[in-house]
Amino acid sequence: MTKTLAIRRPDDWHLHLRDGAMLRAVLPETARHFARAIIMPNLVPPVVTGSDAWAYRDRILKALPEGAAFEPLMTLYLTEDTDPADVAAAHASGLIRAVKLYPAGATTNSASGVRDFDKVRPVLERMAEIGLTLCVHGEVTDPSVDIFDREAVFIDRVLDPVRRATPGLRVVMEHITTKDGVDYVAGASDGLAATITTHHLVINRNHILVGGIHPHYYCLPVAKRESHRLALRAAATSGNSRFFLGTDSAPHIDPLKENACGCAGCFTATNTLSVLAEIFEQDGALDKLEGFVSLHGPAFYGLPLNETTVTLEKGDQVSYPTKIDTADGPVTVFDPGFPLHWRVVY
Ligand code: NCD
Ligand code: ZN
Repeated sequence: MTKTLAIRRPDDWHLHLRDGAMLRAVLPETARHFARAIIMPNLVPPVVTGSDAWAYRDRILKALPEGAAFEPLMTLYLTEDTDPADVAAAHASGLIRAVKLYPAGATTNSASGVRDFDKVRPVLERMAEIGLTLCVHGEVTDPSVDIFDREAVFIDRVLDPVRRATPGLRVVMEHITTKDGVDYVAGASDGLAATITTHHLVINRNHILVGGIHPHYYCLPVAKRESHRLALRAAATSGNSRFFLGTDSAPHIDPLKENACGCAGCFTATNTLSVLAEIFEQDGALDKLEGFVSLHGPAFYGLPLNETTVTLEKGDQVSYPTKIDTADGPVTVFDPGFPLHWRVVY
C-alpha cells in the first residue's frame, strides 16, 4: 500500500550555497524541494555589508534553474567592524533576515568572526530594537576546551551572557548537537529557537571514527555521543515550535574532504526530505514532520507560511546519486546508512 504525506513546502533555515560553479551545481538540489533558505554568508571574502548581500543575492537568483521558485533569505556576516546603520538599512529594505555570528576561528571561513563580544554590542542592541534575528554558531574556540564540550561551554560563557545583556534580541542557536543545547533552548524565555540538521539526527561520533576515519561525516559542530543524538531526535520530533530544520548542507569537493586536513561539512541538500521522512516515521512522529520543516521556522522569523505543498510518497527503496558533479569536482551526498523509502513526488 502506498502511503503519502502532503505538507506545506519546506524551508531550510541554515544553508551553504557557496559561489560560482559550486553555487550553480548545488542550488538546484535545494530549490527542487525548498521554497526559501537562510543563506550563510561565509564566502571568501565573507558577505559583510548590505551591498555584498545584494550582489550575492543577484548571483544566486541568476544561478536558479528556469522556472524555479526559490527565495534566498540573505544574512550578513558579523565582524567587529560591522556598522549598525548598514545592518539596519539592509533589514529595512527587506534584503536580510538575519545576521550571522561566528566566533573567530570556530569553523570553515570564520577568520573574520568575532573575538571580543563587547565590540559588537552596538550592532546587537540595534538588532534587538529592530527585531532582527541573530544566528549563532555556538562553539567556543578556546583551545583548552575539548572539541566535544565546545557547544555546552559556549552556552554558559557566551550565549547566556549575550542574551542577558541584550534583552529582546532574537537568537537562533544553530545546528545544535547536544542535550545541553536542547535543554537551554527548550527552557529559555521567548525569542530563542534552535535549528537542527538532518545529519545530526542520524549520526553520532562513532560514525566518524569507528572502523576508520569517515571524512564525509565530519562537520562542525562535530557530532557528539549517542545520548545527545537521541536528545536531538526527541526535540525535532516533539512538535515543540522552538526547533526547526536548518540542514547546514555544506558542500566541499571530495579532494578537500578526503584530505590530511579535511574540511568540515556534510552535503545533505539532495536527500534531506527522504531522510527526514524516514526518521520521523521510525520515531512514530510523521505528523510532526510538517511542523519541523515547514511551520516552526516561518513562525519564528515572522514570515508567511508557504502556500504550495510537496507530497512525500512511501514505496520501494529510493536511491540518490552518491555524488553530484560540479565544475570544481565531485561532492559526496550524505549517506544516512539505512535504506530510504520516501520520495518527493511532483
Ligand atoms: C560549514 C561550512 O563548510 O561552511 N561547515 C560545517 O561543518 N557546518 C560551516 C559551518 O556552518 O560551521
Ligand atoms: Zn553552517
